[in-house]
Amino acid sequence: MMAQNETAPVPVCGPDTWMPVPARILHVKDENFNTYTIRLRIEDEIARNGYRWAPGQFNMLYAPGVGEAAISISSDPETPDNLEHTIRVVGSVTRAIKKMGKGGIIGLRGPFGTSWPTEGIKGKNVVMVAGGIGLAPIRPMIYWLLHHRHHARRVVLLYGCRSPEDRIFAPELEEWERNSALDVLVTVDNATGNWTGPVGVVTHLLGRIRVDAEHTTVMVCGPKILNRAAAWQFLQLHVRPEQVYVSLERNMNCGFGECGHCQYGSKFVCRDGPVFRFADIAHIFAKEEI
Ligand SMILES: Cc1cc2nc3c(=O)[nH]c(=O)nc-3n(C[C@H](O)[C@H](O)[C@H](O)COP(=O)(O)OP(=O)(O)OC[C@H]3O[C@@H](n4cnc5c(N)ncnc54)[C@H](O)[C@@H]3O)c2cc1C
Ligand code: FES
Repeated sequence: MMAQNETAPVPVCGPDTWMPVPARILHVKDENFNTYTIRLRIEDEIARNGYRWAPGQFNMLYAPGVGEAAISISSDPETPDNLEHTIRVVGSVTRAIKKMGKGGIIGLRGPFGTSWPTEGIKGKNVVMVAGGIGLAPIRPMIYWLLHHRHHARRVVLLYGCRSPEDRIFAPELEEWERNSALDVLVTVDNATGNWTGPVGVVTHLLGRIRVDAEHTTVMVCGPKILNRAAAWQFLQLHVRPEQVYVSLERNMNCGFGECGHCQYGSKFVCRDGPVFRFADIAHIFAKEEI
């Protein structure tokens, strides 16, 4: 989460925070059958040069004439020129951006929200748990940790998805699996094709790693059910709720704490999240209906 002593990057927007700036789609890459990654270039040079963000933050992407969607930044925070978003096609905006393709111009507001902790993990083990598209907001943190590998002790990524074909960043996952700086375990619900890796839900992978509760920071991003199961399992392993971070999703409108659209108990997901310390939301999490 954006540490209290860090200054949040100033959002790149038009004259007010509601107004997107134009950004050109430079490249489109299919990640799987329903998910693609776009590389963007903010058209205005001054806005582009001033654009900074932290792992875990998101932008509001606007498909002209269609609407806006909150999308996490999925690229390396230390190469801001290479600004990427990884998008699953679920509705009108995500479909329209895909249809525009390379060369298309969309609107961008952001970055918004809190980020994964970077200062608080000094000397700690880091365990990241991602499910499906949830790997997209985690990927910038993986890059950050690879750039600052001395910062943390052991770095573990546990990733789960429905089938091998559902994986996103598949070539990179294989690269990370070969990289001794990271411990990467990938599981699938259904082993199709020639999959020989683990089968089962991602939380089962917890049985394959040793968790030193006192010295471990956990970062979780996935569907609601995974966030819930993973957070509770780490608590059962005696990891303190202050050391567990969860990235949440809620329908967004403004993105900066003005409209109340993303209310989650007493919090706004766009401003107080999307990355929350579990200790701060455990009481809301416990109420299923919220
Ligand atoms: C902070 C944040 C970061 C996000 N990052 C990404 C990302 O990196 N990549 C990505 O593909 N998506 C991401 N999303 C989700 C994305 O914003 C929504 O899926 C968005 O609604 C897509 O817009 P659409 O017009 O294509 O679909 P819509 O027409 O808005 O929705 C299609 C379907 O998805 C459901 N839906 C809409 N919003 C949400 C939501 N927030 N949670 C659960 N279900 C929802 C709708 O009820 C509907 O059934 C993120 C959301 C948040 C809040
Ligand atoms: S989206 Fe408006 S307050 Fe969060």
